[in-house]
Amino acid sequence: MTTSRQDVSLGMPQLPATPYPAEVRARLDADAKEVLARYPGSRSALLPLLHLVQSEEGYVSRTGMAFCAETLDLTTAEVTAVATFYSMYRRRAGGDYQVGVCTNTLCAVMGGDAIFDTLKEHLGVGNNETTDDGKVTLEHIECNAACDFAPVVMVNWEFFDNQTPQSATQLVDDLIAGRTVEPTRGAPICSYKETARILAGFPDERPGAVEATGGAGPASLVGLKLAKGEALQKARVVSPRAGQPQGAQPHEPSPSEHLSSHDAPQQTSASDPEHPAGPAAEEGE
Ligand code: FES
Repeated sequence: MTTSRQDVSLGMPQLPATPYPAEVRARLDADAKEVLARYPGSRSALLPLLHLVQSEEGYVSRTGMAFCAETLDLTTAEVTAVATFYSMYRRRAGGDYQVGVCTNTLCAVMGGDAIFDTLKEHLGVGNNETTDDGKVTLEHIECNAACDFAPVVMVNWEFFDNQTPQSATQLVDDLIAGRTVEPTRGAPICSYKETARILAGFPDERPGAVEATGGAGPASLVGLKLAKGEALQKARVVSPRAGQPQGAQPHEPSPSEHLSSHDAPQQTSASDPEHPAGPAAEEGE
């Protein structure tokens, strides 16, 4: 099969983009002026401006990229290069809640793969797909930078630590039902567009949001305490999992219970008698 040049999509915007309606443009111009005033060089405002246009449409559209380029005197190619580099910018319309399940190595073995599979089946969507009601976009993420709380799920960039398939299912059900959902650390979840506006640098006006921002969790501070020579309390440093009462004493596993995925017997290529593990012969031996 041959493919003509016209059939090849490089993912680049095709100009001209449809302009914003006049009242939207006037509002964005005023907001952009406020953002630009924070930076000595206008091009430094590109990241917050991309969040700003994302707060308008829920993703960075061709129209949004053209707006950023025009406002910052950049080419659309320069704007596209940035917008496609960072995963916090959506390139197509999505749900009110971006639910990201970490399936990177640590989270995966701690249950992230099971959570992702459960949510795909429960929501009836695949990776980077949105539920029919437009509420939830599901994606798998490569490390949420919260490995000490694995497995981690994010909703609009807020952390939900130590998740299980059951707790994650309850989480998306609550989001879809419109119930108030609070992350492990931080203020109650708001919509993707509202989050984008906050990330553009505009005030977070949710009541109690600033106070609820919180700090590092206990698991993140263990290394610091050890480095300072502080004694660690004999208590678990991760949040209790769903179903485990607050304050419950940690279960001390016996050696036989302590098999991690690395310790437990597994059928891998290394255990395949047809492919024995061991040093490979050097070339020429
Ligand atoms: S591996 Fe999941 S947060 Fe880092």
